[in-house]
Amino acid sequence: MTDQPLWHGRFESSPAEALLKFTESLSFDKQLWRDDIVGSIAHVRGLVQAKIVSIAEGEKIISALNAVATEMSNGKFEFVASDEDIHTAIERRVTQIAGDTGAKLHTGRSRNDQVATALRLWCKRELAQVAKLTLDLCDVLATRANEAGWGTGAVYLPGYTHLQRAQPVLLAHHFAAHAWAMLRDVDRLTQTIERLDVSPLGAGALAGSSLPLDADFVANELGFARRFNNSLDAVSDRDFVAEALFDIALIGVHLSRLGEEWVLWTTQEFGFAVLDDSYSTGSSMLPQKKNADIAELARGKSGRLIGNLTGLLATLKALPLAYNRDLQEDKEPLFDSVNQVGLALQALAGMIKTAKLNSDAMKSGADAQSLGATDLAEWLVAQGMPFRQAHAHVGALVSKSIRESVSLAQLVEADGKLGKQAAELLQPGVGVSRRTTKGGSGPVPGLVQSAELGAALTVMHTRIAALNNVR
Ligand code: ARG
Repeated sequence: MTDQPLWHGRFESSPAEALLKFTESLSFDKQLWRDDIVGSIAHVRGLVQAKIVSIAEGEKIISALNAVATEMSNGKFEFVASDEDIHTAIERRVTQIAGDTGAKLHTGRSRNDQVATALRLWCKRELAQVAKLTLDLCDVLATRANEAGWGTGAVYLPGYTHLQRAQPVLLAHHFAAHAWAMLRDVDRLTQTIERLDVSPLGAGALAGSSLPLDADFVANELGFARRFNNSLDAVSDRDFVAEALFDIALIGVHLSRLGEEWVLWTTQEFGFAVLDDSYSTGSSMLPQKKNADIAELARGKSGRLIGNLTGLLATLKALPLAYNRDLQEDKEPLFDSVNQVGLALQALAGMIKTAKLNSDAMKSGADAQSLGATDLAEWLVAQGMPFRQAHAHVGALVSKSIRESVSLAQLVEADGKLGKQAAELLQPGVGVSRRTTKGGSGPVPGLVQSAELGAALTVMHTRIAALNNVR
């Protein structure tokens, strides 16, 4: 019996080697063992509650399941050739331990609702962990922002559009921009977790059961917020995996943007940051090299995270109801994305936390007079000049300053419309203080933003702690 598949009854010959190798999922779904056992224990309780198995039988099966859990965590569990996935392996072993009583475990259940249940349980736990790691990175970004300062005298750097220097911005504002994006990622994960918090157990293979099982009872046992409404949907729905992969792909995109900036910041050309030795790598040939490999891989791995999402969407497309074996392809991309994004988040957090920032290089880049051009135009607007004229007037001065290699401040001072007072705007450190509107990059709105960010982080910490404590 142990070297035959669980479904051997209808078959006269054993499965071909090629079939076993091609269809198995044990090699990757092993990591669902905890969730399978938790799901199975709830199912047994449901069988007892429905009086399909006696209390004593239920206890016997549950103790066999607990024995399997011990074997799994000790690494003592022995798989056999016919174990095609973790679910069949566990059921086989339970039946070995508990004999005919164990053979009642699968009553009223199919692997179709079983696997969907295990995967949702896995996602609830693992996505909560990804959310926590993402929030940890938000904390690092917020800490670096606060260190750089928000008020007068805070560190500032050139802000860029099109990667061309545009206007000076507070370094805190720059860090916080990434933190806000990643807070949305955390929020998105919590919403995904909320939506996937549905028990599919009791859907059976596709249609439910003739046995008096109560899907609400097992949903409650498993700590799910609710049960499925439609059995066909319950066994075939992998929206939650696609959503998880999207959430992670978008985190990957955010990490790639952050990574790209750090690649630039750590070049000699920018010179804005120096990585700690423990978070940078050397070259096998070039002795002088110190590379930002974490930042580069954060950028590079986003491709794989996007690929995992698009691969799964392609798998799901055009699948008829209800379960199809194609759905087994949901696991590897999911496990891979969760694993990779967790590694990336931790490595980037460490890299950013320990890096040295060169505020002098940042300031000197931001103090270039041309970055004050908008301030000059807005100064003219304040004197009553229409903005388009002001823009053209200052633009002409910038062009002249480049053409004739004369400092912009000199031209401004000599200009009939601008003059000495306007030239003061080009003094180092003046420009950054002039962005005063709500949500803007200057010290006045900056102090408000720092409080807003702190409050948003506190709220998110409470939500994430609650999620991580559930299971
Ligand atoms: N290993 C399969 C999966 O991951 C389990 C479900 C198989 N169900 C079936 N009826 N063949 O989807």
